[in-house]
Amino acid sequence: MSQKYVQKVLLSKEEIAEKIALLGEQISRDYAGKDIFLICVLKGAVIFLADLMRQLKVPVQVDFMAVSSYGAATESSGVVRIMKDLDGSIEGKHCLIVEDIIDSGLTLKYLKENLQSRQPASLKIVTLLDKPERRRVEITPDYCGFQIPDEFVVGYGLDFAEQYRSLADICVLAE
Ligand code: PRP
Repeated sequence: MSQKYVQKVLLSKEEIAEKIALLGEQISRDYAGKDIFLICVLKGAVIFLADLMRQLKVPVQVDFMAVSSYGAATESSGVVRIMKDLDGSIEGKHCLIVEDIIDSGLTLKYLKENLQSRQPASLKIVTLLDKPERRRVEITPDYCGFQIPDEFVVGYGLDFAEQYRSLADICVLAE
């Protein structure tokens, strides 16, 4: 697909890499002496996961979940359905949910409650991007790369109609 709709680069690949190195250091310090069970929320977070996990200095395991929300395609309805669940139990594990972006917060609120009920030893959230202006429910990430304004962003895993995920930078789409 042509990239003529990309308006500007919001975060360059260099800025992203620098931030992920810092997040990796901080998370490694906080989890020193523990193993981390990374729970990646498909699909947008896969590139962030791949880069973040290689910055962690503690042992990690990884599993994936896929969720979809009912209702309008562009806005979360708050009703979340699990399309792919974790392969196994997380009981007693130090779990870290890896997300690409928090918008309304509805997806993560549901996921956090769902995963908490499975009795992990701990459960935290890391997100690369956060749009606090858009929040409809109270949810705060434990680790956040960048707070961004309410603009439609693509690239570095994030899509518009399944396109643009492979862009190296995070870009703003034109109207
Ligand atoms: C995005 C993102 C979060 C969710 C955030 O996923 O990865 O899971 O939306 O929105 P919310 O805070 O309003 O709930 P998306 O549904 O675009 O799926 P994708 O990662 O497969 O592109």
